[in-house]
Amino acid sequence: MSLNYKSYWRKTGLKGKWGNIFLERLLNHNPKNVLEIGVFCGVTARNICDFLYKAHGNNFNYVGIDLFGKDQSVEKNEIAPTFLKDQKFSNPFKNIYYNYILKENLNSIESVNKFLNQYNKNIKLIAGDTNKVLNEIDLKNIDFTFLDGGHSYQTVINDLSILYEHMKGENKVVLCDDYGEASFIKEVKSAIDDFSNNNNIKIRLIENRFAELIF
Ligand SMILES: C[S@@+](CC[C@H](N)C(=O)[O-])C[C@H]1O[C@@H](n2cnc3c(N)ncnc32)[C@H](O)[C@@H]1O
Repeated sequence: MSLNYKSYWRKTGLKGKWGNIFLERLLNHNPKNVLEIGVFCGVTARNICDFLYKAHGNNFNYVGIDLFGKDQSVEKNEIAPTFLKDQKFSNPFKNIYYNYILKENLNSIESVNKFLNQYNKNIKLIAGDTNKVLNEIDLKNIDFTFLDGGHSYQTVINDLSILYEHMKGENKVVLCDDYGEASFIKEVKSAIDDFSNNNNIKIRLIENRFAELIF
């Protein structure tokens, strides 16, 4: 299958070569049910659905969790994408199109739902803080998780612990962003290292950016 991560004229956390490197991980593990923690504007979500549709037809599920503008449950430094505040674009045409013509907040659940509309039978979007909502979600069928939500130590530990509790021993894949030097976030790395040490899980570093864990 040819891999071609598209940005769809929106914002994404996986710019340039990183989109295809991400898709390669999907190709490698061939999941049917994918969870993304940290949906942002839905671009990786859309690429995941495009990929899963090509691989499995309509027989796939995508679950995405994001604050979608809701308050976090605890005061934490999550290192939010700067774009989220006032929806700033470096491209002036995008600024006019989204902020003045459509007046659309790309990180709202309505906007992402609309963007993923062609897959509406396969997707579920959840608005909330993973420190609260992850525990309430049925995770048993998820076979691949992209962990890219809150970037504080406490949230990464919380998310990994809950995923592990529901998935351990089943060869489930958790791909964590911002671990290696290419997009290093100290709190994220410390949380993944501590979690992995405590649970005896091997960390595979992908392209000096992602940490891939198998539960
Ligand atoms: C780096 S962006 C995700 C990028 C996205 N995965 C992509 O590839 O385009 C991080 C997202 O996580 C969300 N977020 C931050 N803290 C969160 C939390 N505690 N629970 C759920 N979502 C959170 C933010 O609203 C933001 O949209």
